[in-house]
Amino acid sequence: MPYITSLATGAAGYKSFALKQFGLLLIFALSFAQIFAQETNTINIVPIPAEMKLKTGQFIITPQTLMLVSPQDKNLKQVAQFFADHLRIMGGPELQLREYAETDKKALAVILAFPKDKTKFKPEGYELKVTPGQVIVQAVTGAGFFYGIQSLIQLLPADYCTPLKTGKVRTWAVPCLEIKDHPRFPYRGMHLDVSRHFFPKEFVMRYIDLIALYKMNTFHWHLTDDNGWRIEIKKYPKLTEIGAWRVDRENLPWGERPAQKPGEPATYGGFYTQDDIREVVAYAAQRYVTIIPEIEMPAHSVEVLTAYPQFSCTGGPFTVPPGSYWPNTDILCAGNDSVFTFLQDVMTEVMGLFPSVYLHVGGDEADKTNWKKCPKCQARIKAEGLKDEKELQSYFIKRMEKFIVSKGRKMIGWDEILEGGLAPEATVMSWRGVEGGIAAARQGHDAIMTPGSHCYFDYYQANPDSEPKAIGGLTTLKKVYSYEPVPGELSAKEAEHILGAQGNVWTEFIPSTAQVEYMAVSRMIALAEVVWSPKQKRDWKSFRLRMNSQFKRLDCMKVNYCKGSYRVGISTSYDPKGNQMMVSFDSEQPDVPILYTLDGNDPTNKSKVYAGPISIVDNAYIKAGLYVDGNLKEKFTEMPLISHLAIGKPVKYIGNYSYRYPASGIGALTDGLRGSINHRDGMWQGFLGNDLEVVIDLGKEMPINSVQTNFLQNQKSWIFLPSLVEYSLSPDGKKFHSINEVLNTVSPKETNAFIEPFTFQFNQGTTARYVKVKAKNPGKCPPWHEGAGEDCWIFADEIVVY
Ligand code: ACM
Ligand code: ZN
Repeated sequence: MPYITSLATGAAGYKSFALKQFGLLLIFALSFAQIFAQETNTINIVPIPAEMKLKTGQFIITPQTLMLVSPQDKNLKQVAQFFADHLRIMGGPELQLREYAETDKKALAVILAFPKDKTKFKPEGYELKVTPGQVIVQAVTGAGFFYGIQSLIQLLPADYCTPLKTGKVRTWAVPCLEIKDHPRFPYRGMHLDVSRHFFPKEFVMRYIDLIALYKMNTFHWHLTDDNGWRIEIKKYPKLTEIGAWRVDRENLPWGERPAQKPGEPATYGGFYTQDDIREVVAYAAQRYVTIIPEIEMPAHSVEVLTAYPQFSCTGGPFTVPPGSYWPNTDILCAGNDSVFTFLQDVMTEVMGLFPSVYLHVGGDEADKTNWKKCPKCQARIKAEGLKDEKELQSYFIKRMEKFIVSKGRKMIGWDEILEGGLAPEATVMSWRGVEGGIAAARQGHDAIMTPGSHCYFDYYQANPDSEPKAIGGLTTLKKVYSYEPVPGELSAKEAEHILGAQGNVWTEFIPSTAQVEYMAVSRMIALAEVVWSPKQKRDWKSFRLRMNSQFKRLDCMKVNYCKGSYRVGISTSYDPKGNQMMVSFDSEQPDVPILYTLDGNDPTNKSKVYAGPISIVDNAYIKAGLYVDGNLKEKFTEMPLISHLAIGKPVKYIGNYSYRYPASGIGALTDGLRGSINHRDGMWQGFLGNDLEVVIDLGKEMPINSVQTNFLQNQKSWIFLPSLVEYSLSPDGKKFHSINEVLNTVSPKETNAFIEPFTFQFNQGTTARYVKVKAKNPGKCPPWHEGAGEDCWIFADEIVVY
């Protein structure tokens, strides 16, 4: 059994006693009149509490320490038991648990007590007060007490699990302080795909422990998908007899696994029995984690069709794919009423197992090829007066929502459920960027933010060259930490519909439980602070230092976490006084020195150690890396730094860049930094569907020889060259002259990514103060392209003026 899951089954034994001995329910009237102004950096709690004030002194937990709770509350007893079990398992003293009595006023104790004035408390909020004599946790819900206890656990020394010599009893010191805390968002989620790879229930419970440890409150259990059905449904036994098993091709890359051959045994898989599910649901409830089950429909369901081909459009036969199943043309038939009977039967059993108000119906990535050809689906479109297959999907989801709502529950779906019309009460999970969340909120629907850019923890978190194979992308710890769940486009009223955010862990490239931990845990902790802590408390440097303490705690629990990227980041700023560029380096590793060169030579362990911003007056070629024990940890970062007339000069935007590819923001096009062939390297500024149109103010009229802008083409990622770039000049920023066009001459069909300069050379003696650049976006992806008719990207890194 994994280490932390044993917390639930500890046998410390609650020392119950007769309530009548202690009279009426005791309510503590505790005053928190002090102003919580002072902060401390010696406390390493993650997520950082809303308010915290460090005091002097310590409370020492010893074998004599009592654990006292307000009488007659089962939740409090359960939370107290959780804490006592935790201490015991970690090798600490066995606390004596009992209900609070009048005579305990001065007892050396950890006390869980309801406050006198309950109105001051938010539902999941708590107050924690540590004095040399007592630790007092106050809250108005079991969740609040649980979170107070989680903060108390994080006040124990970070290496609290280190074994003692036999016979010794550990005592632990907790620093005196006062905390007032509550979450920013009500929905704080983590997802796990158990279809692409199956993980035993013991691991799911360990995962829930980790979720709860960081005050996340929702586990989105992705129980069904093409590669395996994972939940026992009594009425449809073939779902697990057939749908839960596939041929074992684990030795081959995910995208290169041949389908099952006739007669080949399906040996990879597994599922949770209904008893398993009940056990996990109860385990999660004790940790104030709600489980939202997901049953995918109408697509990502070829495992259902393998078991019950009569629910398909074509009749099959099918096999459960052992790897990639794309395009996913075989989906549930929308014209067959027995499909809906089946799904309602499944949902009825699912609702019997999961008390969650929300049920997730998937709805993502439905390929409509078969629906277009299926007489039943077409008849349904006609009978219901639907416009097309998108509206047929909407019909499908709305029909399921009606059933779910009739049972007193609510439905969630991926953002495709917006297409063809949103079901009346649906909550949208925004994954293809944030647009789905914005659209839902504007339509008055709730939304949960889980955009691929920041919340997909199956993406790489460090240099792919030195990481285990992942699905792609690059979402570093720092990037997750930078995530703001409320899109800036929303009004305050619309923003109330953003319930929170969730990290998604798809497991195509995650075959083991150790790998789930490696990909998910550190980034989950970053997201936990995003969704729990006040926005103004977010501070990357503070977080990263507190993570060092969390890493020690995770070591205690033998969690296979990732320490993040060892890449050096480069940023620039302009010093107008000295008319020079200042170059700064940073990394996700605060304790590891950065070694660098400026002349293009590879750094060695003898190179200069970075100690603060470096001034650069001319061109340079930067190479910088992190060295641990004399060895380079990740490939060094290299960057030509170009000195030119527009460096550091203000840029006015006429067409806005996309929030998805901002590079360093409004200074990005004059920061001297160039992009690489990787469009996600953070140096490229992207414009989706619109032109790049900017005016640079050089500060004073000066001679201009040339203007050059580099653009990236990577048509596989829908990034094209501009059709033309127009350069013009002005003395006053109003009237522009010397309007010159540079036309694109390279084919959009070029398959490999490349960088193309668009340069214009002015006549000798040309002068200007303002330089205007307009790069024409080709508009829509061409008809031969996979994104035909959708908006194109254009990507620029720098406007170089000589
Ligand atoms: C998804 O990633 N297909 C929701
Ligand atoms: Zn059909």
